[in-house]
Amino acid sequence: MPMSETSGVLAKSPAETAWGGDPNWWRQAVVYQIYPRSFADSDGDGLGDLPGVTSRVPYLQELGVDAVWLSPFYPSALADGGYDVDDYRAVDPRLGTLADFDEMLSALHNAGIRVVVDIVPNHSSNRHKWFLEALAAAPGSPERERYIFRDGKGANGELPPSDWVSTFGGPAWTRVPDGQWYLHTFAKEQPDWNWDNREVQLDFLETLKFWADRGVDGFRIDVASNLKKDLSLYPDLPTQEQLWDETLWQPGRFPFADRDEVFDVYREWRELFNQYNPPRTAVAEAWVKPERQHLYAAPDGLGQVFNFDLLKSNFDSGEFREVIDRNLLHAAQTGSSNTWVLSNHDVVRHATRYGLPFDETKDNQIARKWDLADGLTIPLDAEQGIRRARAATLLLFALPGSTYIYQGEELGLPSITGIAAEDRQDPTYFRNAGVDVGRDGCRIPIPWVSNAPSFGFGTTSASHLPQPREWGNLAVDVESTDPSSTLSLYRNALALRHKLQTGEALEWLDAEAPNKNVLIFARPSVVGSVEPSRGANETTGAAGGKRWVCATNFGKTPVPMPAGEVILTSSPLTGPAELPAETTAWLLR
Ligand code: GLC
Repeated sequence: MPMSETSGVLAKSPAETAWGGDPNWWRQAVVYQIYPRSFADSDGDGLGDLPGVTSRVPYLQELGVDAVWLSPFYPSALADGGYDVDDYRAVDPRLGTLADFDEMLSALHNAGIRVVVDIVPNHSSNRHKWFLEALAAAPGSPERERYIFRDGKGANGELPPSDWVSTFGGPAWTRVPDGQWYLHTFAKEQPDWNWDNREVQLDFLETLKFWADRGVDGFRIDVASNLKKDLSLYPDLPTQEQLWDETLWQPGRFPFADRDEVFDVYREWRELFNQYNPPRTAVAEAWVKPERQHLYAAPDGLGQVFNFDLLKSNFDSGEFREVIDRNLLHAAQTGSSNTWVLSNHDVVRHATRYGLPFDETKDNQIARKWDLADGLTIPLDAEQGIRRARAATLLLFALPGSTYIYQGEELGLPSITGIAAEDRQDPTYFRNAGVDVGRDGCRIPIPWVSNAPSFGFGTTSASHLPQPREWGNLAVDVESTDPSSTLSLYRNALALRHKLQTGEALEWLDAEAPNKNVLIFARPSVVGSVEPSRGANETTGAAGGKRWVCATNFGKTPVPMPAGEVILTSSPLTGPAELPAETTAWLLR
């Protein structure tokens, strides 16, 4: 059923012609995440837009990315930065039109860059046509069946069906005028869909088809783990305290997240994806236990899953080693390839995270509390932050699998604190007063030009979140001409990665590590073959018969540089034959 404007012409995807249908393009792709409202603003209204993205295609090409993933650009009241979708098959008029989308897609494809769009299937917005229909219809009606409505408790149903707390804080149920309650596991503007409803299932297939037909190459699936819910215990739903008690829930049986039935949904999606040439790809956002994560990467399902384990880790060789080994094993078991991520639009940027004390209580998101302490009680070591960020990124780029870059991290942007209450947008801030400042700090518009209004983000000084004054120093024009900048590091690293990238295996060279703070590994030279017993001299590879070695010193003091020709380091060399503290080096040998 058409829910939005559809373009008359569905041009054949350039991806189907220009790339000859390579079905494996995603396996080791460098994917650049664009948060469209904060990327580039073509009309000066302070909100980034799709023509803005089109105007930056040369930048993306020079950076050397294989694909972009666009966070939602659909019509939305922005109750949750666009993850509250009014219409899944349209473009927010403030961000452009479907014609602008097509133009952007062609420009990216012509530059050799694939396009992944964000699909938000756990919830719509409360302005979605079907939610408005549900509100207008009576309790028990088919319109209400598309969402999760229940009567409340108490003499007059004045109490919610359960005391569940939403992900953003506050109650997970909201009452409507006729007295029923609807479930929203995120903000109240984000009612959860009922994924047992066939109309909902079919409508999402339509949405996926809509974008795939337009030429989109893949999908990032928002909150992929939470679609299926079991409320069969209603009206005696478990309490929030019971939900928190992990001993009560078998894997795959939690009432509203990570349930085994969710894979049925993705099997049906995969059948659709495979009707395209090349098959459309998908990557699941699933903040689930490590032992469940790989289930979302099943080849008859979404095919790939985000691995957030490095993002949650401390800058520590032991933790990195464990995470890398576990994820390589899981990817091998499922036939998928890994995804490596250090930053995204939901977390404190890694240049800031690594400058703060490690905090494992909230996925290492300490800076989200930092603001609340006036920035005084938790000291930020910005220099350490960027130094470690560059080292971790270079390590990440050398790993087999696909890698994700969040816009602005290539400039070494920090997360911003001290945003005034009236400028805040994130519902997390408003629903957790005094506890969590939320995610606005990592969503500040990008500085492109050091001495232009809004640092070249737009044509005027308007910027929907305020940019710090000192951001001119981090602007693209400044960093482009500085060979020691983070942007130059990213450009050099990605150019080298393209030349050196080989099979999806990795060989640890533990015997060479001078101490426990150092991780050294090599990549095989021929796709699909890793022979750990092979001597270094016997390998032949992309780099003229040499192999690619990556060494990271997580420690605070320099160590001897491993043997080989140093081709890139994350920080300047301090002495001959020395791998500096908190530094990664790439070598050929
Ligand atoms: C995902 C998105 C996040 C959003 C949430 C609800 O976690 O990455 O930004 O707030 O889902 O859609």
